[in-house]
Amino acid sequence: MRSTYKSLACVLMIASAVAVLATGLLSCAGRTTGSQAGATSTQDDATYSNVRAEDYVGPQACGKCHSNNYKKWRRHPHSRMNMFANGSSVLGDFSGVSIEYAGRRAVFRKADGQYFVDYYRTAEAYQTAEEDDKERTFRVIRTVGSRYEQDYVAVQIEGPEPAGHPLYVEETRLRFAWSIVAGRWLPQSYLEPTEYPGSEYLEDGSLRYDPFEPDELPFNERCARCHNTYPYDLRFYKILTEFGRLSGFPPFPGVSPKTVRDLAQETDDEALLTSVRLPMDRFVTAGISCESCHFGGREHAEDARSTMPRFVPTHPLLAKWTPPHEGARERKEVVNALCLQCHHSGEAAQDNWPDGSAGVNSMESIEMESGACASVIKCTDCHNPHEAGQWAGAPDSKEHLQACVDCHAEKASADAAEAHSLHDMDTASCLDCHMPRIVQGFETYNRSHRISMPTERRVLATGMPNACNLCHLNESLAWTRDELEAGWGKKVSLPGALRSLYGDEFGRSVGRVWLEHPQASVRTVAVGAYARSSLGERALPSIVQGLGDANAYVRGRHLMGVEAIIGRSLTRGDYDLTGAPEVRAAQVRGLLERFTRR
Ligand code: HEC
Ligand code: HEC
Ligand code: HEC
Ligand code: HEC
Ligand code: HEC
Ligand code: HEC
Ligand code: HEC
Ligand code: HEC
Repeated sequence: MRSTYKSLACVLMIASAVAVLATGLLSCAGRTTGSQAGATSTQDDATYSNVRAEDYVGPQACGKCHSNNYKKWRRHPHSRMNMFANGSSVLGDFSGVSIEYAGRRAVFRKADGQYFVDYYRTAEAYQTAEEDDKERTFRVIRTVGSRYEQDYVAVQIEGPEPAGHPLYVEETRLRFAWSIVAGRWLPQSYLEPTEYPGSEYLEDGSLRYDPFEPDELPFNERCARCHNTYPYDLRFYKILTEFGRLSGFPPFPGVSPKTVRDLAQETDDEALLTSVRLPMDRFVTAGISCESCHFGGREHAEDARSTMPRFVPTHPLLAKWTPPHEGARERKEVVNALCLQCHHSGEAAQDNWPDGSAGVNSMESIEMESGACASVIKCTDCHNPHEAGQWAGAPDSKEHLQACVDCHAEKASADAAEAHSLHDMDTASCLDCHMPRIVQGFETYNRSHRISMPTERRVLATGMPNACNLCHLNESLAWTRDELEAGWGKKVSLPGALRSLYGDEFGRSVGRVWLEHPQASVRTVAVGAYARSSLGERALPSIVQGLGDANAYVRGRHLMGVEAIIGRSLTRGDYDLTGAPEVRAAQVRGLLERFTRR
């Protein structure tokens, strides 16, 4: 417990310092215990370390010499992933606006340069200035995210719990988030599918997931792990546990429980071996900075002439395990391990697809490793690690398309590509058939990072959304099977178990089957596909029906689909996404009438 308070003090200190500096970056230095291995000036394997807190210098130090990489990184979402709340980081509307939800109200306001959220017991109380009806107030400490959605990490400053309750000292995530895309406040259950399954309301009319009930899971127990820069030893301590992916590099060969213990003992860190909380006083930066990928670079930053940073974690006690550092930068195992440290979220989620693709984004590294090309492909074949990328859902970038044919050179010419794909490249690209849009992203459907083939049994024969029918929504599964055989000479047999959904001869229009599918993620992926398709208009009545879905997230996705197809936003009067069920049901009937008449 004590270490939590210590870290909190440090965090608060940073929060106020940052408000002055208006920057999200600052290290909480001052740790003096532990190995001084990083202090030597030549890379002597007997002493060199890049994994301890004192081996890290923070991005400004790197930027002194690498100004170009530094400037690019400042524009990359990595650098803005977690920030202290201030005028330049907060994107949500804190001008005193509120959201009314399930008869209650949350108010978002600003005072003296700080950001507050109040919860009221009734929706009316706020207007009538009934302070008695205020139940809780939170002060926002950090932001999470800057592109599609911004979450807030806060401490409670007023509430019904007695003084000394953890909510007053620990930072936890608020259950309302700002949807940057929609420009509105929403409860988390509207934004995240995996953690909020089932109906929004229970049979007795109460909420299944009440956003006014504070989330007591501290920020540093979970979210902080993949969004911040902290010394690699803290990742290594978890290497043999269920959180082992945080280490990026696999434990074997060479890591035994003794290796882990020895490393922890050297700095009196044994308590951290069993703690699931990260000591926030050791964070190098809020957000993802150079040393999340480059490891502690102190020695190099102090003497760049004689020492280069290493692309593998290094410490004398890890000598039996560390992969060789010579040529590490070129090796796919090493580069992919750097990204895997964080891009593995949701690996065990229920709604992942049977072929190994993600149901929800953030596990790109796991997907890629289970796909074709895995023996050679690197994240950096398509993504420059310093350069901000495109918006998910944007048209294919030239670089991404080029990456495929850099390796599959026999398909590089337009003629060869068309001969292979039987489509004009502008109609269907390599990515459309091999990285289909089946991953639920924050505002759209992201491409699976599992490079796959529509002919794979794990794809077509499982009935999961396949690349061909994501465009050919009105065709049947039998059509796809036959066209794959006619065009590519591959016969895939469809199992009888699929007949109950896809029709006796697998003859039903696949898009319709998906829109009515018992699995929610199949329905929402289909909505996304119709929204991109010229067939969307015809499917509008079915998609409008989905606005009546009992699950909040599923409804939100249908709303995005309807708005994309009709080309404009619906007003609250047309459809109130967070409104009372009776109100919504009547609105859906009204919309159905309108759209069936069209
Ligand atoms: C005093 C100036 C200086 C500082 C500070 C500095 N570097 Fe460097 N860095 C260099 C020079 C010089 C090179 C070699 C030429 C080049 O590749 O740009 C280099 C090379 C590199 C390389 C390429 C290594 C390779 O194997 O090809 C990386 C990665 C790197 N630096 C990262 C960092 C990081 C991360 C930091 C901060 C922790 C940092 N540098 C701080 C001067 C500096
Ligand atoms: C295992 C690593 C991991 C954990 C743990 C994790 N995230 Fe993330 N998060 C990611 C990755 C990777 C992305 C980027 C995904 C993408 O762009 O497709 C991301 C993206 C996000 C975004 C979108 C940011 C934007 O700019 O729109 C938000 C918001 C977010 N995470 C919130 C959270 C919260 C809240 C928690 C804790 C409940 C959490 N994450 C836990 C890895 C993680
Ligand atoms: C998301 C991970 C990541 C982050 C964050 C990151 N780098 Fe890199 N960096 C890499 C990888 C991977 C390479 C090797 C790229 C290659 O060889 O294709 C690299 C290469 C480099 C190089 C040598 C080649 C070049 O592009 O100049 C330098 C210098 C460098 N990084 C400096 C920095 C600095 C300074 C920062 C912070 C301002 C930073 N990096 C942030 C992953 C990262
Ligand atoms: C310390 C954790 C961490 C590491 C290490 C990391 N990422 Fe990320 N990455 C994230 C999070 C979190 C986001 C979400 C940022 C957001 O959406 O605001 C993200 C976003 C991205 C994005 C989407 C944003 C854009 O502008 O393109 C790409 C691409 C990406 N990362 C690639 C990589 C690659 C490649 C590597 C390895 C070289 C890597 N990441 C290493 C956590 C990490
Ligand atoms: C770095 C090189 C590289 C890149 C980039 C690459 N591939 Fe591959 N790909 C390979 C290799 C090598 C194989 C052979 C299987 C293996 O060894 O993993 C392969 C296998 C495949 C296969 C499966 C072949 C089979 O019969 O199982 C498909 C499909 C494929 N790649 C498509 C693509 C597409 C589409 C892209 C771009 C999105 C792409 N590849 C990018 C190297 C690459
Ligand atoms: C219209 C869909 C479609 C498009 C577009 C497409 N492919 Fe394919 N691709 C397929 C199908 C179907 C197979 C499976 C063939 C099989 O199972 O033998 C395949 C197989 C492959 C294979 C493995 C077999 C082989 O022919 O080598 C590679 C590699 C590949 N594609 C790469 C690419 C690249 C690179 C592009 C872009 C230039 C591309 N594909 C565009 C449908 C497509
Ligand atoms: C063959 C090219 C290719 C490779 C290799 C690749 N990506 Fe991507 N990546 C893409 C494409 C294309 C997109 C855009 C997808 C979209 O529009 O949804 C993307 C998007 C992303 C995003 C952003 C999603 C968002 O929400 O904005 C992240 C994060 C990401 N990739 C991470 C990774 C990581 C980590 C690796 C390595 C494990 C990797 N990628 C390897 C092609 C690639
Ligand atoms: C990105 C969307 C897209 C994907 C993915 C796609 N197609 Fe197509 N396909 C089209 C369009 C659009 C046409 C209409 C003709 C044209 O403009 O080329 C077409 C035409 C066809 C045709 C000939 C015309 C017809 O309708 O009879 C066949 C057969 C076909 N596609 C089969 C497939 C198969 C099989 C796959 C999967 C391997 C596939 N397509 C993947 C968009 C796509």
